[in-house]
Amino acid sequence: MKAVILYDSRTATGSTEAVIDAIGLSLAEAGVYVEKAKCRAMADYSFVKDFDLVILGAPVYYFIVASQLLGALIQGNLKKNLKRKKIALFLTCGSSESTAALLYLPQLKIHLIRNKILAEKIFAPDAFLEGDGIDAFVEEILYEFNRGPKSKVLSAKWTDEAQEWFQSMPSFMQGKFRTMAEEYAEEMGYKEITLAVLEEARDTLGGT
Ligand SMILES: Cc1cc2nc3c(=O)[nH]c(=O)nc-3n(C[C@H](O)[C@H](O)[C@H](O)COP(=O)(O)O)c2cc1C
Repeated sequence: MKAVILYDSRTATGSTEAVIDAIGLSLAEAGVYVEKAKCRAMADYSFVKDFDLVILGAPVYYFIVASQLLGALIQGNLKKNLKRKKIALFLTCGSSESTAALLYLPQLKIHLIRNKILAEKIFAPDAFLEGDGIDAFVEEILYEFNRGPKSKVLSAKWTDEAQEWFQSMPSFMQGKFRTMAEEYAEEMGYKEITLAVLEEARDTLGGT
């Protein structure tokens, strides 16, 4: 597996860098190839396609997630290149986990509604001093990453409307479409296959 940690921080040797290095070490110990790259809003993020897992992380300054990472999602082409990528998120900040989950994480998550987020974590500025939280975060990422796509396929339930729409398709297309829709639902963590999920799968994966 290849992972890249995309991050921003105003401080070259600050807590975010230290957390990233600890995450990188923990991933490498688990056999993952890891790179890190500091974000610039208007950089070209096409290289992200070469990675199986993308970890996004940044500190919070004055209630806003660091601007180059946010800028890369809002103005740059990062969001486009994250299409169908498995993602993990973390923030370093002084606020409590509940405050950060309410105020800061959504600043990133609102741009990632079509991604499967494997794990998310708020780290206090000195989190890297105690490896526990970091190792647990990495373990959660790897566990979620490795959960086989087939395992939940059967548990994704089709709504009546989605089933009806599916039945209206030409029969020679049904087998392939069912697999595609169920795998997409699994990948995105959807428990139900609705008409909206089918439309989203069609827009994301292409097709009629
Ligand atoms: C100028 C400044 C503004 C900050 N504003 C916030 C804030 O609004 N909310 C918060 O939770 N933490 C805030 N913090 C704490 C930082 O997010 C925290 O110290 C973080 O670990 C800094 O990361 P860095 O060392 O990579 O720069 C602020 C820190 C600084 C220096």
